[in-house]
Amino acid sequence: MPEAVTSPATGQRDQGRPSGTYTWGSSPAEQHRLKRQLAVLRAHSATLLDRVGARAGWRTIDLGCGPAGILDLLSARAGPRGQVTGVDADAGNATAARAFARESALANVRILHADARRTGLPGAAFDLVHTRMVLVNISRPAEVVAEMARLARPGGWVASLEADALGVCYPPHPDLDRLTELLVTAVRHDGADPHLGRRLPHLFRDAGLAEVGVEARSDVYPAGHPQRTVLLDLLQAMRLKIAAGGLASEDELDTLDAAARRHLADPSTLIAPVTYVLAWARKPSRSPRSMRY
Ligand SMILES: C[S@@+](CC[C@H](N)C(=O)[O-])C[C@H]1O[C@@H](n2cnc3c(N)ncnc32)[C@H](O)[C@@H]1O
Repeated sequence: MPEAVTSPATGQRDQGRPSGTYTWGSSPAEQHRLKRQLAVLRAHSATLLDRVGARAGWRTIDLGCGPAGILDLLSARAGPRGQVTGVDADAGNATAARAFARESALANVRILHADARRTGLPGAAFDLVHTRMVLVNISRPAEVVAEMARLARPGGWVASLEADALGVCYPPHPDLDRLTELLVTAVRHDGADPHLGRRLPHLFRDAGLAEVGVEARSDVYPAGHPQRTVLLDLLQAMRLKIAAGGLASEDELDTLDAAARRHLADPSTLIAPVTYVLAWARKPSRSPRSMRY
């Protein structure tokens, strides 16, 4: 049974824990990683909002907002006449998001502790429903996309920025390749698709959305940039699972990790660890009769 709690922000009964798996949790280290990543993703998220023409007065949702997500970007676009709803299934992240909204004086933001697969929010009521780095991290992402399509008003937008574990490293390094392979395998064992980014347009079309747009971007991070080791850092969070699953021993992981970090510490190594896929689509103004939102 999902946990039910009452949201201090909305007074509504929350929908509770996610019904699928979510690997990364909300430890202080993970919240720190997400906050650090905000600056890295900010320009890409702003581009995505430009693509859908997000503007004043819009009612918007950031599903799986984590401790901050794009709440501030949405808040600035929506303005005082608009509204932003942040949704997260993790109680710790929902609490952190409320604190972030309060401390940043985002008066048009409210936070709901709920599962993105069934938010309990009214359907056909939002101008924009958004996810960032959520679908790539969960099992059964199509269920969240279906909820996004349900929440959007006819003519409204669904938009996502999701990762794809398609990276570039030059010169290549066998230990980094091995660790990347282990991470991909471990994420798949957890039920998520590390290559979800490339599937976004299909997921949107399968949910009955139209006018699908897509862009792929990747960033090369210079020596010393914390994002250079993002895959290694994510793998650290999964090391016990990897060892328990017999994919590699902890000793083997330590040896590979040390060698890969040495390679990435070399300023002459070029690394673009992931591809970011930006995709957007519109809910048709008149849904075909067979399509139920
Ligand atoms: C990698 S974080 C990304 C956070 C934020 N979107 C950002 O870009 O910084 C993924 C977030 O999705 C949330 N999440 C995972 N499964 C969820 C679900 N079924 N419903 C709602 N939130 C979920 C997690 O709690 C976490 O906060």
